[in-house]
Amino acid sequence: SFVNRLADSALPVAEVVGDPLDRLDAPSPIPQPRDLFAAERINSRGLDLACPLALAELEKGLAKVPPAPSPPDADPEQAMTTAATAFAAWDGLGAPARAALLDKAADALEADRVGLMALAIIEAGKTIPDALAEIREAVDFLRFYAAESRRLFAPHHLPGPVGEANTLSLRGRGVFVCISPWNFPLAIFVGQVAAALAAGNTVVAKPAEQTPLMAARAVRLLHAAGIPKEVLHLVPGGPAIGAALVSHPAVAGVAFTGSTATAKSIQRALAAKDGPIVPLIAETGGINAMIADSSALTEQLLGDVMESAFRSAGQRCSALRLLLIQREAWVKLEPMLVGAMAELVVGDPKDLASDIGPVIDAEAKAMLEAHAERMAGCSRLVAQAPSTSGGLFFAPRVFELADAKRLDTEVFGPILHVVAWESQGLDAVIDTVAASGYGLTLGIHSRIDATIDHIRARLRVGNVYVNRSMIGAVVGSQPFGGQGLSGTGPKAGGPNTLLRYAAETCLSVNT
Ligand code: SER
Repeated sequence: SFVNRLADSALPVAEVVGDPLDRLDAPSPIPQPRDLFAAERINSRGLDLACPLALAELEKGLAKVPPAPSPPDADPEQAMTTAATAFAAWDGLGAPARAALLDKAADALEADRVGLMALAIIEAGKTIPDALAEIREAVDFLRFYAAESRRLFAPHHLPGPVGEANTLSLRGRGVFVCISPWNFPLAIFVGQVAAALAAGNTVVAKPAEQTPLMAARAVRLLHAAGIPKEVLHLVPGGPAIGAALVSHPAVAGVAFTGSTATAKSIQRALAAKDGPIVPLIAETGGINAMIADSSALTEQLLGDVMESAFRSAGQRCSALRLLLIQREAWVKLEPMLVGAMAELVVGDPKDLASDIGPVIDAEAKAMLEAHAERMAGCSRLVAQAPSTSGGLFFAPRVFELADAKRLDTEVFGPILHVVAWESQGLDAVIDTVAASGYGLTLGIHSRIDATIDHIRARLRVGNVYVNRSMIGAVVGSQPFGGQGLSGTGPKAGGPNTLLRYAAETCLSVNT
């Protein structure tokens, strides 16, 4: 079995991946997209790949594709069956040995950071700071879940009656299907996979259709680090592939990040299957609000609003969509917000001067344009950032609405909606947020502790950020995930995450 092979085949990662700087003397040509598979998309971002700096960087990065790339598993059936067969040995390997492989995988991703960053920029349109943060988060997930599995998977001895020994142990569940989104094509992809693997599951992973290359590169690095190919499978594709995977008889758990509607359809498919009850870990979206009162510090509020609404082109599930601000504070904030919007640089993500890159695809752009047009008919356009025209660039906008109920759906992009409330209006504002049914992130800007406590106590939200921006949860420090329409939990990157990926057994022995 692969367990026997692990000792021989787990080459030191550095040998497989190489030091990025070693390749600088003799850069190989940039691999054609086809070498990586399905990469016609590589040019679909509307970016200027002729930029000499970008080419040099890209060359450095892409030269380090591991030498023997493993092709994706095209056949979901084959991937599920092989993963099911590999489960017992991977589970039996034990948490410390699995954790050691995940740590090696983290080293491999770190060593390949230039290549991964290049791909994040090209494939997902990430700006340079976002691309760097993406790699950092993926590496953090690997190391964090490795450490968590060492902590949680040690047998836990429980007190019991005299003459009995009681031990609680965690094991893997079986084959986990991991379905990840395009907005964090490396971090969320790797986060789900790392959690499932650390807990002793084998994995069949389906990345978003828009970003298969980052996933493929990550899987190659994980395989090169010693995680057996039978244990981790990549099955790229669209909704039909996802449906085939979750309906497969071998599935023992599903980790999904994406829309609420898709999460519900996965839940229905799992419920309709014969056989065991299969858990779903779903992390979905939100109509995330920030509530600001008249005691908020205007300069701080401005920075946090701009960051929360527009960083990453608003393509974060945590992003601010609805600013609910007391009228006195809005009167002070509005002119500053208009000024800040005029300064935003929307453009080539390879250019360090760009604050915001393109949106993910033509469909996303069309959706944002249609929404902006609808808003123009029923609200006031407060500000619109200048934007590079054409391609997949979309100029960020701020609309002031008379009533928050006009925003009844998540708009995934750089559009901020503002509703001003009069004094005495705080409870009505809180009711509006609660009525949405979502509960992912919430921002509060106030200098009054009683107000902060009142808002917090009345809303059921996964991540609450007070007097700071409401994006960029840090693995291990700010476990991330929501409630209600925003997801099932457990949060990603927290002390309870692995428990949901695992099965518990209590052994009671009459001594
Ligand atoms: N985890 C991301 C953040 O906190 C959102 O997807 O911004």
